[in-house]
Amino acid sequence: MTKPPIPVIAIDGPSASGKGTVAKLVAQRLGFHFLDSGALYRAVTLAALKAGVGLDDEAALARVAAALDISFDGDAIHMNQELVTDAIRSERISASTSEVAAMPAVRQALLKRQRAFRQPPGLVADGRDMGAVVFPDAVLKIYLTADVAERTRRRYKQLIEKGMDANMATLLQDIRQRDERDSARATAPLQMSNDASLLDTTKLSIAAAVEQVLARYAAAKQVP
Ligand code: DC
Repeated sequence: MTKPPIPVIAIDGPSASGKGTVAKLVAQRLGFHFLDSGALYRAVTLAALKAGVGLDDEAALARVAAALDISFDGDAIHMNQELVTDAIRSERISASTSEVAAMPAVRQALLKRQRAFRQPPGLVADGRDMGAVVFPDAVLKIYLTADVAERTRRRYKQLIEKGMDANMATLLQDIRQRDERDSARATAPLQMSNDASLLDTTKLSIAAAVEQVLARYAAAKQVP
């Protein structure tokens, strides 16, 4: 008998939808591993800026992606032994990352690294193309979203809580621009695939969203 594949729950959706928080909590509840694929793309951008690599140099960026020395330890993210958890979340990095992530060679260079997170007993993967490209055989594919005003409010709160500077109008504009760029790009654009299940969290608490994902996973597991 062949062994059943290691289960993957793919959670995709736009910026600041809360999917990272929801995905992490679902992983904790199930005792699964967690992949924050956006953090990989963000780290490539930060590493490139530090190395003086131009953000329009696709081949050089792909080399940075392939050589990325990154480790995840709970919420802490280290790059070349340096703690970069907050540095990769600045608005500067957020804006540049959506350009870097649009490059096919960069996406290709990160593919194997993302798939390596698939370890027993299972994985919750958070991103834009987890269900469509990286884990097409995921047992459950969630497209998690919220309306843009609510997402802006959430991102604002997150930044202020971290003691970072934030302006609602600028954030709204940035999030719209990023949505546009992430959805319009030619390679692995952000879009809800036919086999994904929509979860709109505009009016849902984080706890309620987590329960929804767990219930859908329990139902998906029953289907042979
Ligand atoms: O999820 P996030 O905000 O940390 O993602 C940062 C950027 O990386 C965002 O512009 C979308 C992009 N991204 C991507 O293209 N593919 C992924 N799987 C994850 C993130």
